Amino acid sequence: MSQSLISMAYIAAAILFILSLSGLSNQETSRRGNYYGMIGMAIAILATVLNPSFTAYGILIIALVIGGVIGARAAFKVEMTQMPELVAVMHSLVGIAAVLVGYANFIDHSSPLAGSEKTIHEVEIYLGVLIGAVTFSGSVIAFGKLSGRIGGKPMLLPGRHWLNLCMLIGVIVLGYMFLHQTEGCCCCGGLGPLLIMTVIALIFGVHMVMAIGGADMPVVVSMLNSYSGWAAAATGFMLSNDLLIVTGALVGSSGAILSYIMCRAMNRNFISVIAGGFGGGATGGGTAAVIEGDVTPVNAVETAKLLLEAKSIVIVPGYGMAVAQAQHAVNEITKLLRGKGKTVRFGIHPVAGRMPGHMNVLLAEAKVPYDIVFEMDEINEDFPKVDVAIVIGANDIVNPSAMNDPTSPIAGMPVLEVWKSHITIAMKRSMASGYAGVGNPLFVMENTRMLFGDAKETLQAVLKELNANS
Ligand code: TAP
Repeated sequence: MSQSLISMAYIAAAILFILSLSGLSNQETSRRGNYYGMIGMAIAILATVLNPSFTAYGILIIALVIGGVIGARAAFKVEMTQMPELVAVMHSLVGIAAVLVGYANFIDHSSPLAGSEKTIHEVEIYLGVLIGAVTFSGSVIAFGKLSGRIGGKPMLLPGRHWLNLCMLIGVIVLGYMFLHQTEGCCCCGGLGPLLIMTVIALIFGVHMVMAIGGADMPVVVSMLNSYSGWAAAATGFMLSNDLLIVTGALVGSSGAILSYIMCRAMNRNFISVIAGGFGGGATGGGTAAVIEGDVTPVNAVETAKLLLEAKSIVIVPGYGMAVAQAQHAVNEITKLLRGKGKTVRFGIHPVAGRMPGHMNVLLAEAKVPYDIVFEMDEINEDFPKVDVAIVIGANDIVNPSAMNDPTSPIAGMPVLEVWKSHITIAMKRSMASGYAGVGNPLFVMENTRMLFGDAKETLQAVLKELNANS
């Protein structure tokens, strides 16, 4: 393949990646967006493999087979609820790749550079290793937190901001030493500062994510997504690969925009979170209030009766709907109630579930019409006019203490104000707290009814009752 053909292929792939991102921004076009991304990636891989300067086909084939098998296995095996963990693992791989490419570039002296070109290349290596190492260790900790292997409580070391500042100063000093390396000096010609900086960056990644509390994890996921993009872009600079630079920049900037949107949705300070839990004052940081009061349990028969009496119904799905895989039962009930002339709408919190768009994906899979699915801001004001709000396996996103308890760890996070509706039916298996580990006063409110049980089983029982009364 000639160099100009490769350049054209790279441009085509970059355009397809941009189209992919724009397609993924909307539910109706997201499938198309995925196809654009897949075609773009196929073109990018082909153009790279067919590059005339490339000869190591043996290694490439082995790597492609191993990577392909692991990727396919993960895609088939991983449950929808484990997706965020998988994404965190993927981010860690991008990070470690950037670190390894950085070291390989540093050790490789086959095409020696001089003057400013050498300095620029060394800056690329230093930054690539730095971003890659932070992304790697941060993503490993994020994986641990998302999978429950590491507790969700923020680890707030005394003087942590000073610790971060010391690490930052250390990285800058080591960067200076790295760029002014002298052959044969005690620092092994730059390898010493590079190694020490890598260790510091790894510690910083761990410290940054450990300092972020459970409820703020959505921001961490999108932030690491952004970091992984910048790590890929840095790798692109080191390898002089234009497409990798463009793709990395796309991922890096879209991840940063997503983090910003997440922060706004959770009323958190973007800069504070991006900088790794700096000044986490936005969070109440206190302990969860103990919830006192009696719950009013209902069964499937009573729930069906309440639904049949209601005119306006809002369904609020959360992580529990994903765990129970209850979306199809939800769709059946929605169809039946709409068939009876009732207004049924969905209220989606930006951080419901465990990944951005989690609930939208599940509802789309169950074929719930898009035009009855509303964002939190679009529906929140309507709750006083809603007859029945059904909360399906959601907890933190409908917790009133986020609004009225300044000491709550989720204080300030906007929530779906379901308690303002005439009756709220909360479906979950027990009185256990949600991801943020915070008690929820909603469950003991006078107009709340608790429908205990697995969401899928209870919804199927409700559906049976509704059918029996039709
Ligand atoms: P959660 O607050 O985690 O609450 C989910 C509830 O579902 C639990 O209280 C659980 O109660 C119930 N549940 C679990 N399995 C169930 C089943 N089979 N049937 C019925 N109920 C079941 O979820 P949420 O309200 O969606 O809030 C999301 C939380 O995750 C937020 O704190 C958010 O910050 C965090 N988070 C979000 C993301 C993104 S990007 N969306 C990423 C990381 C973290 P029982 O055990 O009593 O059944």
